Amino acid sequence: MISVLLGVLIINACLPVSSGMDGTLLKFLVDASILFAPTRMTAFLCIDQNDALHLLRAMSNAHLSYDIRISNHNLDMRVSRENRHYVSFLLDLNCPEAITILRQANESALFVGPLKWLILQDLKDRKKQNDSYLDSVFGNLAIFPDSELVLAQRLDKNSTRLLSPYRPSPYHKLIIEEIGLWDLQNGVTLLNHDVSSRRRRNLANTPLKSCLVVTDPDTINHLTDYQDKHSDTITKTNYPWIMHLVRMMNATVTFSIANTWGYRSKNGSWSGMIGQLARGEIDIGGTATFFTAERIGVVQYISLYTPTRAKFIFRQPPLSFVSNVFTLPFRRSVWIAIGVFMILIFCLLHLTLKWEWFNTSAEERVRRHWSGNVYQPTMSDNLLILVGAVSQQGSSYEARAIPARIIILMLLVATLSLYASYTANIVALLQSTTDSITTLDDLLHSPLKIGVHDIVYNRYYFESFQDPIRKTIYEQKVAPKGRKSAWMNLEEGVSRLRQGLFAFHGELGSVYKIVQETFNEDEKCGFQEIDYLNVLDPLIAIQKESPYLEIIRIGALKIHENGLQTREIRRLYTKKPVCHKHASFVSVGLTECYAAFITLSYGTLIAFTIFILEIIWYKRGIVEDVVQPFDYVK
Ligand SMILES: *[C@@H]1O[C@H](CO)[C@@H](O)[C@H](O)[C@H]1NC(C)=O
Ligand SMILES: *[C@@H]1O[C@H](CO)[C@@H](O)[C@H](O)[C@H]1NC(C)=O
Ligand SMILES: *[C@@H]1O[C@H](CO)[C@@H](O)[C@H](O)[C@H]1NC(C)=O
Ligand SMILES: *[C@@H]1O[C@H](CO)[C@@H](O)[C@H](O)[C@H]1NC(C)=O
Ligand SMILES: *[C@@H]1O[C@H](CO)[C@@H](O)[C@H](O)[C@H]1NC(C)=O
Repeated sequence: MISVLLGVLIINACLPVSSGMDGTLLKFLVDASILFAPTRMTAFLCIDQNDALHLLRAMSNAHLSYDIRISNHNLDMRVSRENRHYVSFLLDLNCPEAITILRQANESALFVGPLKWLILQDLKDRKKQNDSYLDSVFGNLAIFPDSELVLAQRLDKNSTRLLSPYRPSPYHKLIIEEIGLWDLQNGVTLLNHDVSSRRRRNLANTPLKSCLVVTDPDTINHLTDYQDKHSDTITKTNYPWIMHLVRMMNATVTFSIANTWGYRSKNGSWSGMIGQLARGEIDIGGTATFFTAERIGVVQYISLYTPTRAKFIFRQPPLSFVSNVFTLPFRRSVWIAIGVFMILIFCLLHLTLKWEWFNTSAEERVRRHWSGNVYQPTMSDNLLILVGAVSQQGSSYEARAIPARIIILMLLVATLSLYASYTANIVALLQSTTDSITTLDDLLHSPLKIGVHDIVYNRYYFESFQDPIRKTIYEQKVAPKGRKSAWMNLEEGVSRLRQGLFAFHGELGSVYKIVQETFNEDEKCGFQEIDYLNVLDPLIAIQKESPYLEIIRIGALKIHENGLQTREIRRLYTKKPVCHKHASFVSVGLTECYAAFITLSYGTLIAFTIFILEIIWYKRGIVEDVVQPFDYVK
């Protein structure tokens, strides 16, 4: 015997009326330790202290180390949750108090796995040999498929039969499995090395109860036909899985309907599906539920997840919305260079035009009357030439002298190339979007409006967050006091998403399904997601300490491995639409031209102010005589 049994052997030495310990029994107990992993064993044997010492000696001769305590009749049946894998019990059925001990163990729910039991029965007693005796002892106990209970029936002096009684469910009679044999020569021979929940997958039509969470009443009619995939997607995804699980166990299932997953109310009770699980009204939750800290210990999660992700979906706002696109085509240094260049041109033009005027004779000026250059060129002529060139308009003043013409030509060529690069850039910029919104904080401070899908879990989680950013988003944008709140249905949310400048919080699959159906091809581009709820993917939950835990766990793994999980997910969850980059015509609206309008209105304002100042100036007679025509000849 190589394996080492670590732990404590607590011997509850009952009245020493017993058969006592013979060598064969000791040998059996030593051999039977392979049925149990290293454990801490509590023994209820009616042996005296001498026999207890014999047992311990036998154990240590076989290199099995025990920690021994001999306690009195007080049975301490409490087992802490953490140690359950290391705990086993040993009971002699022939002891007078055996039945009482079994009842007590039943009350403390000690027959659930992974707690282990080894029960000794000596068949010397003839009337206890038949099956109806076992039925009367075990038939009413909560020994279900997960229990690891081994009954060792001593057939004759040298051989023992190993049985394992259990019931598939509370509705079934006791089933007695034969799991192996022990004899003096060969030791323990097991027929099957699987653990009990692997052997007992056939629950023989046990009626299980489950619960579906349904937020749209019509879902009941479309659980398997893949219609209306956007409503209660998770219920429709999980329903076939539950049916597979139930079929694997050869059980039947009935569903109740709940309208919420279930949350803890102030008085500590749970509502919805979780409430039904917590109260033991159903065996298995039919709809996956979020894995949250407060639900741990209330239900047992099975690792069969559904990738339901509710997030904020939005498109980044156009660039023109967050900054003035009209200044963006050139860098600041280029703008400064252009300014310096214009000032330079202005000065040079002023010099050359003056020079031209003074170099032209009076007759020449008369001849030029028709060409418009009748007055001495002023600063404003100069400015008009400049503005005309910059705005690609030309001007009425026509320079005649070669130096002035060279400068004007240079000005026109320079502004043409600037104009070409500016317009090329501005078209691209008007169509581009920012990438400024990447976190919840950005979203809070962005111009985007917010909408939230009105569904139970959103209602619950949005109200429950206490961190500053989420709380502010909720108070300012989702449910602002005195204004319209942001709760809306899916269709409305998606249609506002299409209009832009809007972030919608909804389940990605459902939103993308409606996007896929209603948006134009070029509108399906540029979606971004921000997580708000900060939860893991939902998992299937079952009753705590359910006798079917292991069977369901294995079934869930099989559903995952066979691809049945992926099958439903693929069919029901719409992926993010692929953007085909058909960059279509982008219409430029008022928002894009905002800066231009601002410039225009300031310009008008300044013009009016100057106009009024001129009137005042004129009324006061400050202006001297207006220059008379034809005074150029003087
Ligand atoms: C089986 O045991 C019960 C007592 O538990 C007894 O009444 C019955 O007669 C026995 N049946 C047979 C066939 O021995
Ligand atoms: C064992 O416990 C179950 C519930 O846990 C109860 O229904 C059953 O009656 C109990 N059996 C006995 C014999 O007390
Ligand atoms: C039990 O085994 C012992 C030792 O191997 C042997 O002497 C004895 O005859 C056996 N008894 C029976 C009833 O088989
Ligand atoms: C399911 O259980 C019933 C009732 O015990 C049994 O008749 C049937 O053969 C079982 N089916 C399978 C596939 O094991
Ligand atoms: C707890 O509160 C819920 C409603 O919030 C109510 O339905 C339930 O009866 C209450 N339970 C107890 C034990 O007071």
